[in-house]
Amino acid sequence: MDIYRTNFRPTDYIRSTENQHVSLEFAGKIKKIPGDELKSMALYLQAAYAIASNTYSLDYLGRPEDMQHQLICHAIHEMRHIEIIGIILCKTGHNPQLKTTGFELSKSYKELFTMIFQSEQAGIESLSEMVDITNDKEIKLILLNQIREEQDHLDMVKQMSQILEKAGLMDTLLPLPQGAGPVAYDINMLQDAFELEIPSIVTLIYGSIHLGMDMSVAPRLRVLSIEDMQHLNRIAQDIITLGGRPVVTHESLNKGPMLVDTAQIINHAIENKQQKIKQYNQFSQMLKSKGAARTLLDISVKERESIRVLEGISNSLAKIEPVH
Ligand SMILES: [Fe+2]
Ligand SMILES: [Fe+2]
Repeated sequence: MDIYRTNFRPTDYIRSTENQHVSLEFAGKIKKIPGDELKSMALYLQAAYAIASNTYSLDYLGRPEDMQHQLICHAIHEMRHIEIIGIILCKTGHNPQLKTTGFELSKSYKELFTMIFQSEQAGIESLSEMVDITNDKEIKLILLNQIREEQDHLDMVKQMSQILEKAGLMDTLLPLPQGAGPVAYDINMLQDAFELEIPSIVTLIYGSIHLGMDMSVAPRLRVLSIEDMQHLNRIAQDIITLGGRPVVTHESLNKGPMLVDTAQIINHAIENKQQKIKQYNQFSQMLKSKGAARTLLDISVKERESIRVLEGISNSLAKIEPVH
């Protein structure tokens, strides 16, 4: 299965509820959700890169699934959750803010999986409270669907924890991020590249939210954000091959400026990509690992194509008003 595939969903078509009444209580609760979902995404990535690939097998609807693969899938689901909640916020006249609070790096597997478990539980609780206090049937349906997905995540996390407990990993420390010896030089540089991908992903999710009603553009931005997630994963796998562990930091998650306007978001996404190309070209000449240098050059080629797409969208937006 291609974990990076993307689908349209009925939520893409939700009608504007801008003029409908949304209680202050509902608004207060929903505003917090995008940041919490972003935190969940980061926690899943943290876990994925602390688990060796093709080592731990899960039961996924009766068939075996690799645990690392499943954790990356969950991170991508959380990106979609940010987008869905963000679109509801836009439709109800609020500007979504993708800022995390309380995101700390874990030291052990137990600490990390406990944080994921608590984050999923808290998410289900908040979404359920919102279902109870909204009268909008469409929003209720979206929230119920999201609760179901979070419940599936929770069930999978329970299963993962049991497997890691059995393997004797739960009480051990997470692998060191830096690796050791001469490879530390390459790992540090690749970690810098890894950290450039995170704000780029976040900016494109913003773009997809802000253009949520425009069916020609929003799915394209979603694809681009998932492509950046692919880049992130390729860099991560190179760090792991060299003996390190990629780390998602609070700083990289919250690095982007406050983005309020669609054109500003697209321009910021272009700047992120230009910066990546510049840095990756420099890094590729300095890296000792030929394979890792190749990865960064390959990503730069993709980024040039993405910039062209974004510039095209930017030009179209300059000619017409955004839908909302
Ligand atoms: Fe979620
Ligand atoms: Fe989740």
